[in-house]
Amino acid sequence: MRLHLLLLHLLLLLCSPFPRIRAQSSEARSLDVILQEYAFRALVKPKTGTIYNATSHLPSNFTGVKIAALRLRSGSLRRRGVVPSYNEFEIPIGVIEKPYVKRLVLVYQNLGNWSNRYYPLPNYTYLAPVLGLLAYNGSNLSATDLPTLNVNASAEPIKVKFLDVRDPPLGAVVRCVWFDLQGSSNFSNVTGGNTCSTSTQGHLSIVAETSVLPPPPPSLPPPVSPAPSPPSPPPVVPKESKSSKKVGVIVGSVLGGIVFLVLLCLLVLWVLKYKQTKKIQQMERAADAGEALHIATVGDTKAPAATVTRTQPTLEHEYVP
Ligand SMILES: *[C@@H]1O[C@H](CO)[C@@H](O)[C@H](O)[C@H]1NC(C)=O
Ligand SMILES: *[C@@H]1O[C@H](CO)[C@@H](O)[C@H](O)[C@H]1NC(C)=O
Ligand SMILES: *[C@@H]1O[C@H](CO)[C@@H](O)[C@H](O)[C@H]1NC(C)=O
Ligand SMILES: *[C@@H]1O[C@H](CO)[C@@H](O)[C@H](O)[C@H]1NC(C)=O
Ligand SMILES: *[C@@H]1O[C@H](CO)[C@@H](O)[C@H](O)[C@H]1NC(C)=O
Ligand SMILES: *[C@@H]1O[C@H](CO)[C@@H](O)[C@H](O)[C@H]1NC(C)=O
Ligand SMILES: *[C@@H]1O[C@H](CO)[C@@H](O)[C@H](O)[C@H]1NC(C)=O
Ligand SMILES: *[C@@H]1O[C@H](CO)[C@@H](O)[C@H](O)[C@H]1NC(C)=O
Ligand SMILES: *[C@@H]1O[C@H](CO)[C@@H](O)[C@H](O)[C@H]1NC(C)=O
Repeated sequence: MRLHLLLLHLLLLLCSPFPRIRAQSSEARSLDVILQEYAFRALVKPKTGTIYNATSHLPSNFTGVKIAALRLRSGSLRRRGVVPSYNEFEIPIGVIEKPYVKRLVLVYQNLGNWSNRYYPLPNYTYLAPVLGLLAYNGSNLSATDLPTLNVNASAEPIKVKFLDVRDPPLGAVVRCVWFDLQGSSNFSNVTGGNTCSTSTQGHLSIVAETSVLPPPPPSLPPPVSPAPSPPSPPPVVPKESKSSKKVGVIVGSVLGGIVFLVLLCLLVLWVLKYKQTKKIQQMERAADAGEALHIATVGDTKAPAATVTRTQPTLEHEYVP
């Protein structure tokens, strides 16, 4: 019984990474829903194009998070952008939303020290808070649980100029990270030391890669090779090598998982078989208690016979491990 429980735990452990990733993403989504509600509370008879700081509307258990709301006419956003900027976000002309709404509200999020909790990124360290920009239908300001609109910066990308970017650890690679609303992330280059770009809605930050791979072993010269060494391969684009590494990791873990599952199944089968033979042995023992003698055929006659000697005679000095 206990072994069965152990196997169940193992299976659960095996399957848990996938739901956990989804759970984190759904946690971030429910945060978006909460922040939309509180950001809209700052919009009481709002002036179009005015940024409303809604941080003070948040309950005290969100200390460290900052939010704001900006209501715009859709046409004005497309033709003029947001002048000069919306906190750290520089929104150029040509931004359109889908589906079309007459008025929209852009909710700004600065997750501060909550960044790592809602957007955990293994092997990376945040050098700036996670900032979010999400668009909602701005026609009904008391609406809650609104779906996010898809934003498309068709002409120029939206730029995010982070304030106070922390210094990276020595030698670490600094990158922009962007999260979509499904929880997947993508990396791009930082420009001007503090600026990231995006052509759509979502969350962004600046990170440093903290797990530095060990340097490749120095390549040894070929032992006997009079021929000129072949030209070294062109440097691989980091993005490609990263994604192929990612694919490798995924394939590796899938294969590993399959092998593990097969081994697990074998173990389960073995345990079941072991239990069965044990049960049969018990039954045999119970039958033996009745001293039923087997009928053996000797030549033409059938005669009762003892099957095996119950106790094997062993010599005292014989050591059986
Ligand atoms: C909004 O208000 C909070 C305090 O309520 C302040 O800490 C924060 O800096 C303000 N944000 C902006 C962008 O002015
Ligand atoms: C803060 O409290 C509100 C209810 O007042 C709750 O909905 C929310 O989940 C809490 N947030 C955190 C981060 O615990
Ligand atoms: C962020 O900092 C505030 C105080 O400044 C604290 O109350 C809150 O618990 C912190 N949040 C996290 C996720 O550590
Ligand atoms: C983090 O880095 C370690 C060591 O380089 C690696 O084994 C691990 O798979 C990485 N984790 C993720 C989520 O990439
Ligand atoms: C936006 O909200 C208004 C008022 O609730 C509604 O009439 C309109 O259909 C909504 N637009 C979209 C695209 O959902
Ligand atoms: C706006 O939303 C609130 C809350 O969902 C709802 O009670 C109200 O009827 C809506 N108003 C309009 C004009 O759609
Ligand atoms: C954004 O707009 C451009 C130009 O209108 C278009 O080519 C592109 O497919 C759009 N992207 C999305 C995600 O809708
Ligand atoms: C990640 O970004 C690159 C370059 O911007 C793009 O080509 C690629 O499609 C993106 N991947 C995802 C999953 O969004
Ligand atoms: C990012 O920067 C690296 C080196 O600084 C460069 O090789 C690479 O092409 C850049 N990637 C993009 C998408 O600009």
